[in-house]
Amino acid sequence: MKALADTLKDLAAPTTSDSVWTQACFSGSGPADLERWRQSGGKIYNGKVRDLVITPQKVLMIHSDRLSAFDRFIGYVPFKGVILTHICRFWFDSLRQVVPNHFRSSPHDRVLEVEPLTPVKTEVVVRGYLAGSIMRAYDAGEREFCGVKLPDGLRAYQKLPEPIITPTTKAAAFEHDENTNAADLIANGVCSAAEWQTITTMAFRVFQHGQTVFAKAGWILADTKYEFGRDASGGIKLMDEVHTPDSSRLWESATYAGRCSEKLAPIMLDKENIRRFLMDQGFSGHGPVPQVPRAEFIKLALIYLHVLEALTGEKLQVNPTKAQTLTSIL
Ligand SMILES: Nc1ncnc2c1ncn2[C@@H]1O[C@H](COP(=O)(O)OP(=O)(O)OP(=O)(O)O)[C@@H](O)[C@H]1O
Ligand SMILES: [Mg+2]
Repeated sequence: MKALADTLKDLAAPTTSDSVWTQACFSGSGPADLERWRQSGGKIYNGKVRDLVITPQKVLMIHSDRLSAFDRFIGYVPFKGVILTHICRFWFDSLRQVVPNHFRSSPHDRVLEVEPLTPVKTEVVVRGYLAGSIMRAYDAGEREFCGVKLPDGLRAYQKLPEPIITPTTKAAAFEHDENTNAADLIANGVCSAAEWQTITTMAFRVFQHGQTVFAKAGWILADTKYEFGRDASGGIKLMDEVHTPDSSRLWESATYAGRCSEKLAPIMLDKENIRRFLMDQGFSGHGPVPQVPRAEFIKLALIYLHVLEALTGEKLQVNPTKAQTLTSIL
């Protein structure tokens, strides 16, 4: 076992060969694993980040090191899948008493075993601060978002009077999600009015829990995205990932007010770091993906690791070889 922080720092050395780097990045489950799972009756779904093995009894979520941004594949962030698996373990455990969720166990550093649910096909975005796409639209004069009105006079990155939900449709992998609203979701049969009520109540509760726990680690959970599904008896449960730096905006609390008053963006501990790097290269989802230096990928891995370790209070130790292979887990 070795501290993952040390493994990442070793990888960052300019002397790291291409083959060592490639071995450190887990691109996804290999053909032999996939074939074995298919033969035992599993259906395979390859998402942007995770591979799913779906059987009627259970779903295995296998976290790769694939990085997507602007709905495009950007490259591999070594050990990101391991870190995300541990972050999800932490949150689903900590949410056990807050809302029903799909988590059962984690049989491997990259794998969550979860209850199979039928997805409610919407991404439930909860926002506590003015940021991202709604900040840009607000600057351009828009005030109503997914059926919710915001007051005049809000400044960039400011806390909203209260958290709001701006749902999006759920597009196929690598297609773009679109903003929607409760009325359309219900009219289109995505969920019933009663289910939407349950989903929003649960989403606000999970968000509040997340903000409280992150605040203790010194961070602001500015916004995040949840997914929900129905279990065999129709009950709504929280599924997918929760409060990861892939699905959330996380800002440093200590510097937040000072930076806002200087009209600077908060210090960010999330995927926004790579989005900014890409935007600086003139890329925002269209045309060829720019070459990303390894140093940027390592920087992102260390930020994600920092989030995990501050939440758990422990240094993550991994067996680097075992974390890159999936032993028989079905
Ligand atoms: N308990 C569950 N039962 C069934 N499906 C699940 C469950 N939890 C999560 N999922 C689905 O697993 C997939 C996770 O993989 P990933 O996030 O990599 O996919 P993705 O490319 O983002 O796809 P999508 O755009 O559909 O979310 C998502 O499609 C999510 O809806
Ligand atoms: Mg996803």
